[in-house]
Amino acid sequence: MAEENWLDIGSVEEMSQAPLRRIAAGSRELAVSFRDGRFGVVSNACNHVGGPLGEGRLDGEYIVCPWHNWKFHRCSGKGEPGFEEDAVPAYAVKVEGGRVQVDMASATRRTRKPHPAHPLARKIERAPGPIRVAGISTSPMDEANPRFSGSDHLLRHALDSCAAYGAEGRMIRLSELKFRACEGYYSKSAHACTWPCSITQMDESDQLDRVYEALVHWADAIIVATPIRWGAASSLYFKMAERLNCVQNSITIRNQVLIRNKVAGFIVVGGQDNIQGVAGQMLGFFAELGFIFPQFPYVAHSRGWSSEDMERNVEIVRDSKELAEGASMLARRCVDLAAALIAQDQAPVAIERGGRKAHPLEVERAAGETG
Ligand code: FES
Repeated sequence: MAEENWLDIGSVEEMSQAPLRRIAAGSRELAVSFRDGRFGVVSNACNHVGGPLGEGRLDGEYIVCPWHNWKFHRCSGKGEPGFEEDAVPAYAVKVEGGRVQVDMASATRRTRKPHPAHPLARKIERAPGPIRVAGISTSPMDEANPRFSGSDHLLRHALDSCAAYGAEGRMIRLSELKFRACEGYYSKSAHACTWPCSITQMDESDQLDRVYEALVHWADAIIVATPIRWGAASSLYFKMAERLNCVQNSITIRNQVLIRNKVAGFIVVGGQDNIQGVAGQMLGFFAELGFIFPQFPYVAHSRGWSSEDMERNVEIVRDSKELAEGASMLARRCVDLAAALIAQDQAPVAIERGGRKAHPLEVERAAGETG
């Protein structure tokens, strides 16, 4: 047994002021808790992906990690009931002469009990079969009282035409899914924004997993359709886009490109204008995720600045053979490019530094310095 090595970490008066705090003790980071007159000391680093336990909160005798809510006993370091073998190091602590002391030689072993992997975390392997096209409708809609949506209408044409090009089309309507807004895990730390998405891993009722499944695993091409709202894509589009940060962050922090050999096309329909502004944002965003675009990657329609007659716009879009044909041709361009990309299979599995971020990232520098 290692010789005791008691370290003074502060006065009882000071250390009992906060229920939980993070402190540096020599080269180690500790989470020090105080509850019901008793101190507890465990490692600051969470077993999941290293969240700072000392910056979390107490739930009874458990520390709740601030990143994804895993719990560890504040004195024993053991995981919550059912996950006791998933333990962070715990330290002996004593009070002497009004001072709090930690035996730095007493750390228990860090042990991990594997938590079941989320199905989305499986290896990305294209299943054999025809080219698959996922249509993502972002038009907000009361599903119980549906209305005609021009962007949905054209998306339906695009997907229906896939069969003629030897492809399979499937529609996902965001308005049918119940999913939470991104809660800014990336803003806590780049490493707190995980793949699969932190919310998806924690909340089984969140239905954005269907979009992740389609984008990362199932589809070879996607067509995203949006109405124009105040010169921008729809609120549901942005709600989805924010949740897709985890796909891009995978590239940033793990150098892992989840989207390979995949194509994106867009349908933009509005009453007034700003088609190019909306399409430009969508192109920029999906480029960051790793999608490739066909020549002429979007089809669009808007009624125009002075035409406040949206009933007429509905008629125009519904009756327009040209727009329907345009949507169908967009699907064809996406299918053809996806087939060519899959045949070549030259997409990188990791980002090339000469590209998007030519310099080493700060997170990589930090890892290099501590590693
Ligand atoms: S729960 Fe602690 S890092 Fe995820």
